[in-house]
Amino acid sequence: MKKLSELQHFPHPMFNCTVNDEPLALHVPASKRLLSILREDLLLTGTKVACEIGRCGACMVLIDGKPVNACLTMAYQCAGKRITTIEGLAGEGDDLHPVQQAFLMEGGYQCGYCTPGMIVSVTALLKENPNPTQADVEEALSGNLCRCTGYGGIRRAVQHAIEQGRDST
Ligand code: FES
Ligand code: FES
Repeated sequence: MKKLSELQHFPHPMFNCTVNDEPLALHVPASKRLLSILREDLLLTGTKVACEIGRCGACMVLIDGKPVNACLTMAYQCAGKRITTIEGLAGEGDDLHPVQQAFLMEGGYQCGYCTPGMIVSVTALLKENPNPTQADVEEALSGNLCRCTGYGGIRRAVQHAIEQGRDST
């Protein structure tokens, strides 16, 4: 019979996925959380760690275009998926994504810890619905908490991004 210590040397399963447009084969335990894979294995630390129980939205990423909490997503759930983090939103070179620009212009941040998650959620919303109502915005950001801005700058940034989108069509 094998000793328990020997069992730990079994190779990890492989999960094929795409992270920020780069196809990857991840060799990780099936139950490893996407948040840990991004931050520890891929060094994409723009995705933040806070509550780790799906309450704050600091770890929000896009999976196949939908906003998802990376702290609640296991490696096996990423197989065949397209994952986009805050680092993957910007264009080539130094170009910021329009939602990133809007947060910068309107001061939609203070300490900045919630900001990547906020921007990911707003990006997903505007991609699906370029003309959201206030209620749509509140709903889309209901899973993103900010402890320091009072939300005023965030609301202005979202409005700025909406208007910018209208102007560019
Ligand atoms: S760290 Fe994932 S929701 Fe808070
Ligand atoms: S800017 Fe500090 S938590 Fe939101």
